[in-house]
Parts: sequence; structure tokens; C-alpha cells
Amino acid sequence: MPFYQRLGDVPRKRHIQFRDNGTLLTEEVMGLEGFSGNESILYHLQSPCRVQEVGEFEPIVRDEWVPDTHQHRMMHTKGIEAGGDEVTGRRLLMWNQDVEISLCCPTEQMEYFFRNGEGDEVIFVHEGSGTLETIFGELPYKDGDYIVVPRGTTYRFRPEGEQRYLIFETPGLIEIPRRYRNQYGQIIEGAPYYHRDIHAPTELNTHREKGEFPVRVRVRDGYQTYVLDYHPFDVVGWDGYLFPWTFSIHDFEPITGRIHQPPPSHQTFAGRNFVICSFCPRKLDFDPLAIPIPYHHSNLQSEEMIYYVSGNFGSRKGVDVGSITLHPSGLPHGPQPGLAEKSIGMHETGELAVMCDTFHPLRLTTFARDLDDGKYALSWYETGEGEASEAGLTSHL
Ligand SMILES: [Fe+2]
Repeated sequence: MPFYQRLGDVPRKRHIQFRDNGTLLTEEVMGLEGFSGNESILYHLQSPCRVQEVGEFEPIVRDEWVPDTHQHRMMHTKGIEAGGDEVTGRRLLMWNQDVEISLCCPTEQMEYFFRNGEGDEVIFVHEGSGTLETIFGELPYKDGDYIVVPRGTTYRFRPEGEQRYLIFETPGLIEIPRRYRNQYGQIIEGAPYYHRDIHAPTELNTHREKGEFPVRVRVRDGYQTYVLDYHPFDVVGWDGYLFPWTFSIHDFEPITGRIHQPPPSHQTFAGRNFVICSFCPRKLDFDPLAIPIPYHHSNLQSEEMIYYVSGNFGSRKGVDVGSITLHPSGLPHGPQPGLAEKSIGMHETGELAVMCDTFHPLRLTTFARDLDDGKYALSWYETGEGEASEAGLTSHL
């Protein structure tokens, strides 16, 4: 994150003595790009290397589905079975070397702490609220929030109510798009959000308990468990630019125009070879000759996954809350027959959706296969008998 935060107590200067009741604290520099990227400095009661026991390593197994055909797809996810916790309950839908996209409807409490040691995470909270307890402090969240968790952050969910997430995990970094920031890192005028919309941890509780505390670390394409004899949230203070934060999709300020604005105007985050965009309720194109829904386009070098969160698509055939459309590379896509004409005169949309465009092909899991409706690819086909499918009547397809 390109701004400075501080919680708890830190000494006057870096790398000098800092004590808690006479005991010298352990300073940890948690940073990116060697010692040149963004970093935070944390002050621990214990050495963060201290482990009582090295537990099991569990490799990640991805159950791949290689479809027989290359085609547009639609998946319906609303009815998926809930289960697991906020980490074990992640069900991978699609992935490539840059990003993994999962759904999660947890029912169990995390009885351990988790740290992603090899990737950044964006957890889009479709339903639910609660607190992400982290080594940087408490991070409250609610529905509509993107929770951005940088690698190396030890955390545990304390959910309230039923939860439904769309989760992105990436070996790259999650960043605020470069064009939204000036050379000093401040978010510029014209960007669709500002620093005030970004929420850092609010409260740091230093834990001094002793006991048995399992920590599960995602590393080397698997999960390694360690057991600590102290509570891992033993930080008395930290400062820096690296910390988890939330941003609400409802705080994204849509950019509209006289004629149709392209998908990059909806960009929210930049990843390594992928972007995450937010499609929010907004006024539509206002030129008298404008066509408010998009022109057809060919994703020649990208794959487009859209997750429908809420809005007026709910009354339309084929697309429901929690539906996903996947438009893979190499094929054109656009509004279904007749819809461009039908959209003329529309002045606003109430849709809410999250899109992920990847620049490399996505692989699918058998979980995605089981949710695939198998019919979406033919929804542009008019037979002259009855109505054309209205699947995908959203203003951004
Ligand atoms: Fe598209």
C-alpha cells in the first residue's frame, strides 16, 4: 500500500533497542523486493522464528477438468454446498500461473492461524461480516468489501453470520493500478477511489498467552503446519506500508461517459498478468445515439471471468446472483441478439459484479465442470422460434 500506517508502540528510530518491561523486543522487517520494496517493521515479544514443532506438509491437489470443447461458459454458484473454514473451505474454480479463483462458503471456525507465504490474496466478501484478526491488528469487514491480504500476514477469521466469498490468490502482488497514483504514491484526482476509502487495521491487541498455537502456512504449493508455544499475535507495534486492508465495492466511483466506457475504466486492482474490476450501479452513456450496452469484442489475449453479485440482471434469463460467465480467449463475445436495440434509452444500471481478466488462459477444475450449465455458448443463436436468450444482459459484457 502506498501510504504509511502505524499501530501500537514503535521506537524513535529503526533498528535501535526497544524493550517491553525490560525485555528486548525482536524487530522483524517484513518487506518486498529484497530490502527495496514496501515494508513494515514489527516488534515482537518472541522471535517470529520460534516454533515448538514442525508439523505436516500437505500438498495442494487441483482436480483439473480439461473440457472436450472450447466455448463460452456460465456457471451457477449460488447453491454450492457450504463447508470447511475460510481457508479449508476454498473451492478452486479456475487457475493459471498468475491467479487462482475460488469460492468459499465456510461453516467452521478456524482453530488455527493461517499465513499465505507465497501469495497475495483478495477476498471479496459477497455475504457476511466479521473481523479478520491479523498480526497487524483487527480488520473489520462487511459484505461488499474486498479484503486485501499481502503475503506474510498471519491471520484468522472471526466471522459473524453466513459468509460467501470469491477469492483470488496470486504469486504476484496485488496493487492499486499505477495510473491511479502519482509519483509519490498518492491516489490522484480522477481515480475511482481515494485513500479515505481504504481501511487499515483499526486496533492492535498484543497477546501474551502461552500454549499451543498451530499456524498453517501456504508455501511451495502446499500447506505446512507449525506449532508455536505462544500466541502469534505478539506484536506491540508496527509501522510501514505493508498491511492488510479493505476497500468496499460500494465505494468505487464509476466513471461514465457520453459513449461507452471500456472495461479498464472499472479497474480496481492490478495483479501479475491479470486485473480485477468492479461493475457498480451507475448512469449509462448519454449521447442521443449511444448504445448503452457494449459492442462485441474479442478477448484475443485474455480470458474474462465475471461474478455477478447483485442487481437487475437477477430478473433476466440465465444470469442470477452468484452466476459466473467465462469468456475464454480466442472468441468474440457481446450482447445477445436484439439486446443492443433493446438497451437504447436505458439511463442507468443497478448491476454489481466483479470481473477478473487474465492475460493467460485459465484452467478449470471438476468443480467448475459441475457448475457449468453447458448451454451458454449457444445463447447467441437465434432460431426464429421464440425469444432469444437474454443471458448476459448486463451493461458491461
Ligand atoms: Fe467482455
